[in-house]
Amino acid sequence: MSAEEFGVRPGEERASLPATFDAGLHFIGRLRTPWQTRADCPKNGLQTDAICTVEVDAPYVPGLRTITGCTHLILLYWMDRATRGLVVQQPRHADGPRGTFSLRSPARPNPIALSVVELIGRHDGLLRVRGLDCIDGTPLLDIKPYYASTDSRPDAQVDRAGAAP
Ligand SMILES: C[S@@+](CC[C@H](N)C(=O)[O-])C[C@H]1O[C@@H](n2cnc3c(N)ncnc32)[C@H](O)[C@@H]1O
Repeated sequence: MSAEEFGVRPGEERASLPATFDAGLHFIGRLRTPWQTRADCPKNGLQTDAICTVEVDAPYVPGLRTITGCTHLILLYWMDRATRGLVVQQPRHADGPRGTFSLRSPARPNPIALSVVELIGRHDGLLRVRGLDCIDGTPLLDIKPYYASTDSRPDAQVDRAGAAP
């Protein structure tokens, strides 16, 4: 997708990306959700109660052993319809441009997204989860257990007062 299709706004900046990649990835499955376009999607997984399905491809299904012991999972997925060059962005509701690495926008050099989801159930290679925000068919990169003991930072802030622009 081109930057124009994604919608470049005044004040935004693009980096010139290298012609070759530094790493390879295997998609391990895909995410089945009720949303067909970016505009249909919730902005984050807490904005919806929709139950979605994680489809894990056959070679990786043995990796799901013991997963039902987890109440919550971190899903990492590939925002396959995002533009990749934007390094400064103007979010629709922000007062000024923001660096990509201070945003959760899908537009980034490596369009990797994450959500913490509630695991509702498993049937073979299918996981039923709540807490996703992506288009139906979005490729799945990885699944990890969410540890409240180490992953939760209740005091974390974004936009803290007095931070450098
Ligand atoms: C703000 S991002 C947050 C993604 C993830 N929760 C994160 O924090 O990394 C969620 C938005 O990405 C867009 N989106 C969803 N699926 C996408 C896809 N496959 N490719 C590109 N953009 C997508 C939708 O506009 C959705 O509202």
